[in-house]
Parts: sequence; C-alpha cells; structure tokens
Amino acid sequence: MIKVVIVIINLLLLATPSAAENPMPFQDRENLLNFYKKKFPDKKIEEYTYGALMFSEDAKSQYHSIMQFAPFEEDIDNGRQIWETPFKNGKYFADCFPANGVGEAAKYPLYDKNLDKIVTFEMKINDCLEENGESPFAHNDVKTMGILTSYARKLSDGFPTKVVVKSEGALAKYLNGKEIFFKRMGQLNLSCASCHISHAGNYFRDELISPAVGHTTHFPVFRGGEFLFTLHMRYQRCMEAMRVTPFPAGGQKLSELEFFHSFLSNNLPLHSSVYRK
Ligand code: HEC
Repeated sequence: MIKVVIVIINLLLLATPSAAENPMPFQDRENLLNFYKKKFPDKKIEEYTYGALMFSEDAKSQYHSIMQFAPFEEDIDNGRQIWETPFKNGKYFADCFPANGVGEAAKYPLYDKNLDKIVTFEMKINDCLEENGESPFAHNDVKTMGILTSYARKLSDGFPTKVVVKSEGALAKYLNGKEIFFKRMGQLNLSCASCHISHAGNYFRDELISPAVGHTTHFPVFRGGEFLFTLHMRYQRCMEAMRVTPFPAGGQKLSELEFFHSFLSNNLPLHSSVYRK
C-alpha cells in the first residue's frame, strides 16, 4: 500500500507539458532530475526542499527542532502586521491578489506579455504599493520587503510551485535565466551549475552544497535562525562567493534567473520561511 502511494506521488511530481506549454523546459527539468536520481539514488524528490540538509539526518533533525519554536516567528508576525495594515486609501495588500494572496506566490515569477518582462512576487507587491499611492520597498530591505514576504509567501505553504513557460517571449526569458545559471563567471571561473549540479552533495569550504531542484520553495530563509535572506539576496551571496559583482536584487537578470530556477522546482510544495545554516 505504502509503495503504491509513493509511486502515485512520484508520478504526480513528474509534470508533463500541456498543449500550450513549451516542451523544452520540461525536458531540461527531466534531464536534471535524472542526473540527480543517478547521483542520489536513495533520495526522494520531496526531500530536495530541505536543500543541503537532505544529506544529513543530524542536520535535518536539528532543523525540525529549530522550526518547532522558530526564533524568527516574531519577524514573520511583524510581516503579517505590514500585510494587514491598510494603505492610506483604506485598501490592503490582499486586495491586489486573487484569493487574498492565498496560493499566489506559487505562481511567481511569471512572464508579463505586455511588458515583455518577468514579474516576481516581490515586484507584484511593489506594483500593489504604487497602484495604491504608496512608495515601493527596496528589494533587499529586510525590514520591509524581507519580513513582509516572510509572511506573504507563507500564504502559499503547501501549494505546488506552478511556473509556466508558454509563449515565445516567456521562453526567451527562461533561456536568459538558464544562460546565467550555466555561465562560468568571475576569477574562479565557476557557474551556479558547477556547484549546485556537478558538486551537489560535496563540500564547499565547510558547507555541503544543495541541488538546484527545491531551491526556490522556501524563501526567505533565516540564516543562523536570525538573518533574513530573500532569494535574490541569497543569489547575491553566491555570486560574491564566485568573485562576481552581484546583479541588483529585483532587477531583470536575477528575475530571469529566478524564472528558470523556479521552473526546476515545479510541483514541489512551497514552505516559507525556514531556518538555514
Ligand atoms: C562555489 C560554489 C557555489 C556556487 C558557484 C554557487 N553557489 Fe549557491 N550555494 C553554495 C553553498 C555552499 C550554499 C550553502 C549551502 C547550500 O544550501 O547549498 C549555497 C546556497 C544557495 C542557495 C540557498 C539554498 C537553500 O536552500 O537555502 C541558493 C538558492 C543558491 N545557492 C543559488 C545559487 C545560484 C543561483 C548560483 C549562481 C549565481 C549559485 N548558487 C552559485 C555554493 C555555491
């Protein structure tokens, strides 16, 4: 019985393109999943959302005990207060989203045809502020955008990632993001893929390196249980480790990277905001 259930879950996680969707990203994702499956034959796909913790039972149990009484609960609660405070015109963040924002973060980033741009969840939040006559937040401001999204993304906990690449325009952005992920850069001549694909499961300095699948499901993270990092801030830290000048948080380059990167986690459930080392 348990085996049957596991097989069904695995089948559900192997997405196939609908007629309108471009098959190339699906092929990329399947190739990558097959690569990891060979590398880590005993790991189930659901475990990839643990990131590097998936390689150590000790680290995983430490994670679960920290998450039970997370030291950053107050930050998430402050984020909830921002979300629930009305704008000067009396409207709320929730009014900018279908279903009051529940399940919405799982659909981002998305391709906006009219703008020919990738729109992240954070950009949508800033659009909401501006449409309601408020000032937008800086994408790397932990005290505003950071804590607000630590709550707003939680409204999608348990929802499967659903990033869609349909039109030619969307595919072009996906390919831009893919190129950034695989491009060797900086003095060390490394790409994101060098570490998170080729060296996933190995050590970089004193840290085990996570696989790229599952990466985008749980941001923001609280490193050391204390320091909030949005996904773009985390990208920037990795770019610094590569000895590359980081692209700006909230800019199109990191957003296109996020579009490609999130597609790899399609069907994996969201779970914000979590502890990381
Ligand atoms: C030199 C190796 C290296 C390179 C190159 C690298 N990273 Fe990382 N990355 C790490 C390490 C080490 C960590 C921390 C341990 C972990 O979570 O994998 C990390 C963490 C991350 C995380 C957080 C995972 C989590 O669950 O908290 C993301 C997302 C990420 N990297 C994305 C990228 C992207 C995108 C690039 C390319 C711009 C990149 N990394 C380049 C080594 C690298």
